[in-house]
Amino acid sequence: MATTRSGGAFDRVPFDALLKRRLFFTPSFEIYRTASGFAGDTKGLFDYGPPGCALQANLVDTWRKHFVLEENMLELDCTVLTPEDVFKTSGHVDKFSDWMCKDSKNGDYLRADHLIENVLEARLKGDKAARGIAAAEEKDTSNDPAAAKKKKRAVKDIKSVKLDDAVAKEFEEILARIDNYDGLELGALIKKFDIRNPDGNNEVLPPVPFNLMFKTSIGPSSGSIGYLRPETAQGQFVNFKKLLDFNQNTMPFASASIGKSYRNEISPRTGILRVREFLMAEVEHFVDPEGGKKHERFEDIDKIELVLLDRHTQLAGSTEIKVMTVGEAVRSHVIDNETLGYFLARIHLFFQKIGVDPKKVRFRQHMANEMAHYAADCWDGELLTSYGWIECVGCADRSAYDLSVHSKRTGEALVVREPREQPLKIEEWQVDIDKKKLGPKFRKNAKAVEEAIEALSQEQRERFAQTLDNDGAISIDVSGLPEGQAELDKALIQIVRRTRVENIREYTPNVIEPSFGIGRIFYCLLEHVYWHRPGDVARGVLSIPPLVAPSKVLIVPLSRAPGFAPHVKKLSARLRTLGISHTVDDSSASIGKRYSRNDELGTPFGITVDFDSLKDDTITLRERDTTKQIRASVNDVLAAVVSLVNGTELWTDVLERLPEFLGQSEDE
Ligand code: ATP
Ligand code: GLY
Repeated sequence: MATTRSGGAFDRVPFDALLKRRLFFTPSFEIYRTASGFAGDTKGLFDYGPPGCALQANLVDTWRKHFVLEENMLELDCTVLTPEDVFKTSGHVDKFSDWMCKDSKNGDYLRADHLIENVLEARLKGDKAARGIAAAEEKDTSNDPAAAKKKKRAVKDIKSVKLDDAVAKEFEEILARIDNYDGLELGALIKKFDIRNPDGNNEVLPPVPFNLMFKTSIGPSSGSIGYLRPETAQGQFVNFKKLLDFNQNTMPFASASIGKSYRNEISPRTGILRVREFLMAEVEHFVDPEGGKKHERFEDIDKIELVLLDRHTQLAGSTEIKVMTVGEAVRSHVIDNETLGYFLARIHLFFQKIGVDPKKVRFRQHMANEMAHYAADCWDGELLTSYGWIECVGCADRSAYDLSVHSKRTGEALVVREPREQPLKIEEWQVDIDKKKLGPKFRKNAKAVEEAIEALSQEQRERFAQTLDNDGAISIDVSGLPEGQAELDKALIQIVRRTRVENIREYTPNVIEPSFGIGRIFYCLLEHVYWHRPGDVARGVLSIPPLVAPSKVLIVPLSRAPGFAPHVKKLSARLRTLGISHTVDDSSASIGKRYSRNDELGTPFGITVDFDSLKDDTITLRERDTTKQIRASVNDVLAAVVSLVNGTELWTDVLERLPEFLGQSEDE
C-alpha cells in the first residue's frame, strides 16, 4: 500500500479539514460564537456528526464486548447529578483540582503545568531551530499550499534562540517530571524561568487550586447542592453492597459503566482531546487485597509485550521506555500486581483491536505527586499524536480508599464476608462493661464513653488491664465530657485476655480501575489511521478497521440507467438483513470521486453494480486501502463482506480465493 502514513511529520491541516468536511464532529453552538452580544463560553464543547456518532457507537460496542461481556462484568448506568455529600466524602470537593494561573493583565486563565510545558517546549524548539535541527524535522512533505504556508508561519513564530546546554538539559528533565510538581513548585518554576502567557507575553500570578467540578443545586431549594459527576466511578462504589449481593457474594467481580462525565477544564484548547463534557467507560474491579492481588486469567496475557515508562525513570528526568512482557513486569515489580498488569494488557489488546498504531502506544506510570487523591498506583495508557503523548486511559489501583470512606460516612458495611476454610483463633484483650452501672453514672454521655472504650486498641487495653489490676480504676479520654476523661473502676469495667474463634473473614476489597475517555481514543485513532494517496493531499483516507468503521460498505451503481435501481435496492435489503451498515451513492459524480468521498469516511468496502451485473448477477468488491477489487457472484461477495466485517477473514484471504477484477479505473 502506498501511503504517507509513517513518513514525515503529521500534517494536521488537511486532517482537520477532512474531519470538518465529513462532519465527524463540530464545535457546539457555533452559529452563536460569532453572534453579536453573545457572551457565553462554549470552549471545550463539541457535537458529533453522523460518522462521528457511528464511530463512537462502534468503539463503545467494541469496548462493551471486550470488557463487559468477556469478563461478565456487572454493568450499571448511574446518574450524573450527585449530592454534595457524596463528593465531600470521596474527597473530590476538597481535592479534585488543577493548578491555575491568571494572566496579570488580560485576565486569561491558564493551567499552570500546561503553561510551563508549552513555554519550555517552545524554547527547546527554538534552541533546535538555532542549531539547525528544526529545519529537517519541520520539512513539509505534503503538496498542500495552505498547509505549507501555515507551517512556514509556525516555524517563523518559534524564536530561534540557542540555549545553554545545561539549561536545555534542565528543561528536558523538568518536562519529564512535569506532572509531579505541586502548586508551589510550579510557581517557583514560573518565576525561575520567567514564564509568561505566550498570548501577549504578560506575567502570570502564582498558581492557585481550581476545583474542576460543575456545581449546581438539585430541586427548587437552593440549599441542596449537587455536582455533575467528574467520573462514573462513585455511582459504582455506592452500589457496591447491592452488586456483591447480585453476584451471590462471590469475589472477585467487576462493575462497569459507560456515561457522560463533566469537568470544568481551565483552558480547553486541544479540540476534542480536552473537553468539558465527555464520554467515559470505566471498570471497577473489586479484588481481595490479601495474597498479592492475583488474577485468575493472568496466564492468558503473561506473554504480551508492553511499552512501559515507569516512575523512577521519569523522576530521574528521562523518558526512556522499557519493553517487557506483562509477566516479566509483574514478577520484577515494575507493575505492582497481577490484576493491574492484567488490565494493562487488556487495554493494550483493546487498542490493537480498534486499529490504534502499535508503535504509538505506551503505558506511563504516575509519579507520587501526580496521583489522584484516591490512588495508590496508576498507569496511563497513552497514545502518540501530533499534540504529543495523550493520556487516553487511566488505570489506577484505588486500594480500599473509596469503599472505606463511603462506609465510614454512611455506616453501611461495604465489606465482603466469607466463611473461613479453617476457623481462625485470635488471642485478644476483651472489654466487659457493666451497662447497668455505666448508664446511671454517665447519663447522657454514656454512649460516648462506651464508644471510647470500644475504640481502645489492643495495646491500650493491655496497659489498662494492668492499671486496673494495680490501681482498681482507670481513666480514659472521652471527647465531649466536661473533664475530657472518664473514671472507670473495676466494678464497671473488666479487661480480660480471651481466645476468640473467627469463622467468617471480613475485608474491604481493593479496586483496580481502568478508566477510558472514549473521545480521546476516538481522536487519536483517527490521527493514527489518516493518510493520503501519494502526491495527492486532497485524497485523504481513514483506514479505520472494518470492526469500528462508521459504515462498512458503499454501494455504487455505475450508471443511472433503468435496471440499476432494482439491483441496488435488492443488494441494500440483503445487507440490511445481514446487519451490515452501508450507504448508497447513486449521485452523478464519477466513480473515483464517490470512492474518494467514502475513503474519507473510512468506509472499508465498496460494491459496484455495473452493466455486467445486470446480465450475470456478479458484482465487484473494492477494498479501501489497496483499492484492489475482486469480482464474484452476489452471494460470494456478500459472504466475503460478512467475514471481513466480522474479522474472520482478511482482505488478503479474499483476494486469494476470489478472482481479482482489473476493469474499472477510479479516475473515470
Ligand atoms: P489530564 O491529566 O489529561 O487532565 P486526568 O489525569 O485528569 O487527565 P483521569 O482523571 O485519569 O484524567 O480521567 C480518566 C480518563 O478520562 C482519561 O484517561 C481521559 O481519557 C478522560 N478524560 C479526562 N479528562 C478529560 C477531558 N477533559 N476531556 C476528554 N477526556 C478526558
Ligand atoms: N475514575 C477515574 C478518573 O476519573 O480519573
